[in-house]
Amino acid sequence: MTKCYSLCCVVLLIFILASPSCASKPNVTKLVNEVCAKTSNYTFCVESLYSDPHASESDTYGLAIVAFRLAYRNATSTKDYITELLKKASSSSHMLLQKCLTDYEKAISAIETAYNDLNSESFSALADYAGDASRGALDCQATLKGYNNSLLHFMNNAVKGLCQICLVISKLFKGS
Ligand SMILES: *[C@@H]1O[C@H](CO)[C@@H](O)[C@H](O)[C@H]1NC(C)=O
Ligand SMILES: *[C@@H]1O[C@H](CO)[C@@H](O)[C@H](O)[C@H]1NC(C)=O
Ligand SMILES: *[C@@H]1O[C@H](CO)[C@@H](O)[C@H](O)[C@H]1NC(C)=O
Ligand SMILES: *[C@@H]1O[C@H](CO)[C@@H](O)[C@H](O)[C@H]1NC(C)=O
Repeated sequence: MTKCYSLCCVVLLIFILASPSCASKPNVTKLVNEVCAKTSNYTFCVESLYSDPHASESDTYGLAIVAFRLAYRNATSTKDYITELLKKASSSSHMLLQKCLTDYEKAISAIETAYNDLNSESFSALADYAGDASRGALDCQATLKGYNNSLLHFMNNAVKGLCQICLVISKLFKGS
């Protein structure tokens, strides 16, 4: 009887130890693995793509939709946050934020165009638009050096990462 209990305990313990690592490591498809290996942060890439339940059953086209949608959503909420910050900004940070806002407007417009292209299955300029969007986040990051707001830095970094994922996926369409 006690033997059985201790065996049960061991089995239970194994389950408890094993399950968190299972939960944090989604069953990455070959495509997601291939894409994320080409980005600068594999973990961020996998976590971001798998935040959308469609990622696991997507082909390249589906994954591109997932990635551009994520980039669009996060760029839009970052832009909204910058707009909020602008309302109460001191004159010294006003210029920086205004510059970032312009960068984000360009980035979002590029992502929108890419998304429309995807919807009409026109792939030739996708990588260019993803590149434009990435540049927006990079420019904003450079502008914000010395501006003390860790949330904005975090959000901008995420948009930069998401745009990089878009860029990697877009390049898979080259020549198709
Ligand atoms: C993970 O993916 C592999 C290969 O696609 C598949 O054989 C396996 O059943 C999957 N496992 C889970 C838990 O979904
Ligand atoms: C990569 O992304 C993960 C998850 O978002 C994050 O915790 C980690 O700090 C990132 N690593 C680098 C080097 O940016
Ligand atoms: C991207 O935006 C979503 C909400 O739109 C949010 O849940 C998620 O945390 C954001 N990702 C990052 C890395 O900021
Ligand atoms: C940055 O902001 C935080 C909280 O808003 C503050 O505690 C910190 O001293 C600031 N750092 C600098 C270098 O201004």
